[in-house]
This record gives sequence, structure tokens and C-alpha cells, in this order.
Amino acid sequence: MQERTRRAVIGLVITAALMAVLVVWTPRGAYLWIKALHVIAIVSWMAGMLYLPRLFVYHAAAEAGSKESETFKVMERRLLTVIINPAMVASWAFGLWLAWEGGFVWSGWLHAKLALVLALSAVHGYFSMAVRAFAADRNTKSVRHWRFMNEVPTAIMILVIILVVVKPF
Ligand code: HEM
Repeated sequence: MQERTRRAVIGLVITAALMAVLVVWTPRGAYLWIKALHVIAIVSWMAGMLYLPRLFVYHAAAEAGSKESETFKVMERRLLTVIINPAMVASWAFGLWLAWEGGFVWSGWLHAKLALVLALSAVHGYFSMAVRAFAADRNTKSVRHWRFMNEVPTAIMILVIILVVVKPF
């Protein structure tokens, strides 16, 4: 099994296990605590998703093999594996539990939010591939491309927050 497939499977298993624990064992008054954990997880996920493409902008401008380039490789790998990946798993697990427990499963705003969060997860996958490409000095994308990609998670985040707070439909 390829390394990235293995990591994706581990992420899915941890998400499912976390959700199963919460569904089987729900302490009284847990909803607001889980919502707080959900918000902590999404803030961490978003912090990484906003910072990582900024690193790519600087990395794409650095010469391959230079000291800066090698430093960016370490920063990118750590940011992805220590913050972004676990934060995404926690955001999904707590978010899905909130959707179930809060009775939002058939709400239109949640469906729209899920579509956007799936898009955000796809961008996450794209950034993971970019971390591997930069690590092997194989990035082919321009500084301009990474500047543009830097704005994508921001746009998704704005829409997601409006949907979940305003719940317009
Ligand atoms: C990963 C999949 C996600 C699912 C399934 C999910 C689902 C949910 C649900 C059901 C709630 C509870 C709403 C309520 O109690 O009124 C919630 C709260 C919240 N979610 Fe998510 N969410 C996810 C990801 C995200 C992301 C990526 C963001 C931000 C970029 C986000 C931001 C928030 C915020 C700010 C709240 C608190 C809203 C409030 O209390 O008014 N969520 N989420």
C-alpha cells in the first residue's frame, strides 16, 4: 500500500473511531463541549491551510538545494503532519457528530457546508501532494499559482462560517 493511501486510511479509521466513541458514549451536556472542540480543531486546520500555501509562495521563489529551500521543506512537512492532518481528522469527527446529535442531518445549510468542506478537503489533498513535490524539488507551479491557491481556503472558510452561523436555508 502506498504511503499516502496508508495515511488516508489511518485518517478515516481515526475519524470513524472517534465518532463511534462519541455516539456510543455521550455524556450529559456534551454538545457544547464537542462544539468547542470542533471550533478549536477548525481554527487549527484553517491556520495551517492559510499558512502552508504562503510557505509555497516563498519556496517556489527559492533556488532548489539552497538553505532556504531545505528549511521550507522541514517547515512544510511539520506543519502538514503535526497540525493540518490531525486537525482535519478532528474537525470531521466532531463536525459529523454535531450534525447527528444536533438533528441537522436533513438541513440544507449543512449539505451546502459539507459540499464546501469536501472541496476544502480536496484542496488539503492537493497541498499534501505539493509538500511531497517540493520535498523532491519537483514543484512545477509558479509563485503566482501559489498566491492564487492561498486565497482558496479563505474564500471557502468565509462561506462555511456564514452557512453555519446564519443557517440561511
Ligand atoms: C469537517 C466537516 C464539518 C462538519 C460535518 C461540520 C458540522 C458542524 C455542525 C453540525 C455544527 C453545529 C451547528 C450548531 O450547533 O448550530 C458546527 C459548528 C460550527 N462549525 Fe462546523 N463542520 C465542519 C467543518 C467546519 C469548518 C471547516 C469550519 C470553518 C471553516 C466550521 C465552522 C464551524 C463553526 C464556527 C461552528 C460554530 C457555529 C455556532 O455555534 O454558531 N466547521 N459544524
